[in-house]
Amino acid sequence: MCGIVGYIGKRAGAPIVLDGLQALEYRGYDSAGLVTINATGATLTKQVGRVAGLTAAVEPQAQPDHLAIGHTRWATHGVPSMFNAHPHTNTAKTIFVVHNGIIENYVQLRDRLQALGYQFVSETDTEVIPHLIDYYSQRLPSFTAALKAALADLRGAYAIAVITTIRPTTLYAARLSSPLVIGVGDGEHYLASDPAAIMEHTKQVLYLDDYDLATITADKISVHNLKRDKPIEHTVELLDFDNEQAQLGDYAHFMLKEIHEAPATIRSATLGRSLAAKNIVKLGGLESVVAQLKYIDRIVIVACGTSYYAGLVGEYLIEELAGIPVEVHLASEFKYRHEPFSRSTALLAISQSGETADTIAALKKVEDYGVLRLGIVNAVGSTIARMTDAGVYCHAGPEQAVASTKAFIAQVTVLIQIALHLSNGRTKLFKPLLKELDDLPAKAQIVLDQAETIKKIAAKYKDYRDFLFIGRQYNFPCALEGALKLKEVSYIHAEGYAAGEMKHGPLAMIDKDFPSFALATNSFLLDKTYSNIEEIRARKGPVVAIATVGNKHIADLADDVIYLPETLEQTQPILTAIAMQLFSYYIALARGHNVDRPRNLAKSVTVE
Ligand code: M6R
Repeated sequence: MCGIVGYIGKRAGAPIVLDGLQALEYRGYDSAGLVTINATGATLTKQVGRVAGLTAAVEPQAQPDHLAIGHTRWATHGVPSMFNAHPHTNTAKTIFVVHNGIIENYVQLRDRLQALGYQFVSETDTEVIPHLIDYYSQRLPSFTAALKAALADLRGAYAIAVITTIRPTTLYAARLSSPLVIGVGDGEHYLASDPAAIMEHTKQVLYLDDYDLATITADKISVHNLKRDKPIEHTVELLDFDNEQAQLGDYAHFMLKEIHEAPATIRSATLGRSLAAKNIVKLGGLESVVAQLKYIDRIVIVACGTSYYAGLVGEYLIEELAGIPVEVHLASEFKYRHEPFSRSTALLAISQSGETADTIAALKKVEDYGVLRLGIVNAVGSTIARMTDAGVYCHAGPEQAVASTKAFIAQVTVLIQIALHLSNGRTKLFKPLLKELDDLPAKAQIVLDQAETIKKIAAKYKDYRDFLFIGRQYNFPCALEGALKLKEVSYIHAEGYAAGEMKHGPLAMIDKDFPSFALATNSFLLDKTYSNIEEIRARKGPVVAIATVGNKHIADLADDVIYLPETLEQTQPILTAIAMQLFSYYIALARGHNVDRPRNLAKSVTVE
């Protein structure tokens, strides 16, 4: 979604900010803008479309100014247009603001400001901010006081960067429920909503917290927390980020690259944690809460999208292996439920980006309940990682394609280990699962080696309008995830269903034009899945099946079969997901879509 980049220092700010915006392109956006300031005034440039267009329009050579902020906008309030693109400004064009998030009370604020004679040129919620600062700066003794007063009026979520011709050597930043990170350089500072935008320049960063207002000059960063009304000293942290991992390399798309990273992802997620030789699972991130974990008798998982489906796999895992009841909630629904909570409940948030607004809101909801808040997060240092009491990082490296692939693999791998950890060695599957986790990267590679076969099958099914994904037990959440993956990159309508539900409704849709993707890997429920496939066949529905190698029967039932190596039912979702990811990728490619950036979607959903 929207991205913010800022710079103050000794170099020209425009090229640095434009490069940063380019690095944030993967998050999804539809317009971009930049403003630079020097002692004599400001230069504002906006473009609908790509950052490359903005770069061409800016002509960086012409702008040596040392203070700059830029933005990529993903439309929420108002269409993508020059007027709606950020930065937004006051009428005198002295105050410039870029904003991520949503100002929920913007209509009231706009009405109030319009009644005072303020002119609005955009349809955005953001435009109230520069006008509001303008209003207060005419009444209060300093620009900082005006900024504080304006922030106090805002309801909703924001990460904002502000620069003004009144203070041409200062960059201001503030956040509430939307991330901002300051990069520390030598006589220069950077600002970004995502560390990816500044990691080329510095690995030393400090993360702002809610209600922080930062005043940044080339030599100094001062942070004041508006809620606590006192200055805050944030520790400078080192970004654990490998630039190489963020590059496309020889792959055509990030989605394909990230699918192919599955074996390495499993290895990183288990490295130093699953020790098959010693028969132990060691999760350093949970060590500080080991005593509390002993009293947990219920786990509530909250997440969105693919992370939610990983959570559903986690429900099966934790209940089977550790015997602890688990509920999984969509974070967007959880926020508004009237859920009874006891202190023996733990909340587990799962998120690749660590910045998903609904998941953050779910964590905030239980802030005052005294429950243990755990996280499974990929992005190190992200808001969710910092909000939780303890957690386990996925260590999957940057995921850039909008469709989440390797993050799901890492999340399920971590969930298996958490379930084993919580089992305290009481499950008879402890040893077999540790051994299987060791063998899994090689098995994942065998699935990847079938990419050409899967590509051919995808070509056969690319023109269908609908698809049903069915599975039982561990394969049920996989079916939901398979359907999500297909719909988001191919725009084919796809639904995931528990195979046992077919006769309760979905079977009515099946005919020769409605294919099904049946997850029919080895399991004690396989015969029942066969029956469901038979029911589909009887209605002439085409069937693609995923089955375990050596299955002689499935070829008689399904039109096409993808064979996966033998594995345990608990690790099956990992291999199944890789095959389904490849299937979706090749269908989207064959349909000519922008695989990495599907229409209407953003990588990190930072607004509710
Ligand atoms: O960063 P998160 O894991 O919190 O993101 C959750 C969803 O937005 C995300 O999984 C989304 O559904 C993906 N586009 C799925 O591929």
